Amino acid sequence: MTYIDATAAPLRKNGQIKIHGEEAFAGMRKAGRLTAECLDMLVPEIQPGVPTDRIDQLVFEFAMDHGAYPATLMYRGYTKSTCTSINHVVCHGIPNEKPLREGDIVNVDVTLIVDGWHGDSSRMYAVGEIPRRAERLIDVTFESLEIGVTAVRPGATTGDIGAAIEKFVEGHNMSVVRDFCGHGLGRLFHDEPNIVHVGRPGEGIVLRPGMLFTVEPMINLGRPHVKVLSDGWTAVTRDRSLSAQFEHTVGVTETGVEVFTYSPKGLDKPPVNGGPALASRH
Ligand code: MF3
Ligand code: CO
Ligand code: CO
Repeated sequence: MTYIDATAAPLRKNGQIKIHGEEAFAGMRKAGRLTAECLDMLVPEIQPGVPTDRIDQLVFEFAMDHGAYPATLMYRGYTKSTCTSINHVVCHGIPNEKPLREGDIVNVDVTLIVDGWHGDSSRMYAVGEIPRRAERLIDVTFESLEIGVTAVRPGATTGDIGAAIEKFVEGHNMSVVRDFCGHGLGRLFHDEPNIVHVGRPGEGIVLRPGMLFTVEPMINLGRPHVKVLSDGWTAVTRDRSLSAQFEHTVGVTETGVEVFTYSPKGLDKPPVNGGPALASRH
């Protein structure tokens, strides 16, 4: 795997890993923060009876009001501003007119483009009171993202990130989805490298300062296997077990990691069953 100065690289994905400079980090800070503020805005809106296309509309309006553009809109034929993945939907759920129901868990995944830079983040939201097993899944998934992000530093590898997540999740008898992964991003939505959420320490790609990517583990209560429905997007667990996901956009710094998508309000984990919201540790 080769690395290239992003300012000298072709924009397209070409198998090289872009090393970004301070200008990119400044752009990613803005895009990441706005994406986080958008996910914060949704916290009081996600309630029983609210259809997911209402969430999508709120995200679209938020983007327009803030000079941003939702990256998923018209991306590879996708026509919505968000992905809304309910219960056994692993990812890429398409917003629709069906009302959310008490006890559902829903992942809302938003990518906002600000001045050409992509901020990509998702969180789990509880719809009213949710079952204890759903709460446990959300807790483990949130913690697995924290653990993955903590493994990011120069000289570490993508395998270190995956291994840390896998060990933690499997220790709780839950499983890590293999078929979708995190990704490089910046001026592109999906770039090199892939960030797989399982692995072995020391394997994979060596992280260098200036790399930008997402960490976005999808965790299932049952087996890891997924299938994509006939709409071509919606990915569900094959065993119909519950699935959860959290996502941050990060950059590798000289000394460690910078997370661009932290919630300014400490709502990284929105409240569940009357408990407090949690901030990501930083
Ligand atoms: N935001 C998703 C990710 O984390 C990608 C969604 S692509 C879409 O990479 F087309 F499904 F919206
Ligand atoms: Co992503
Ligand atoms: Co995303």
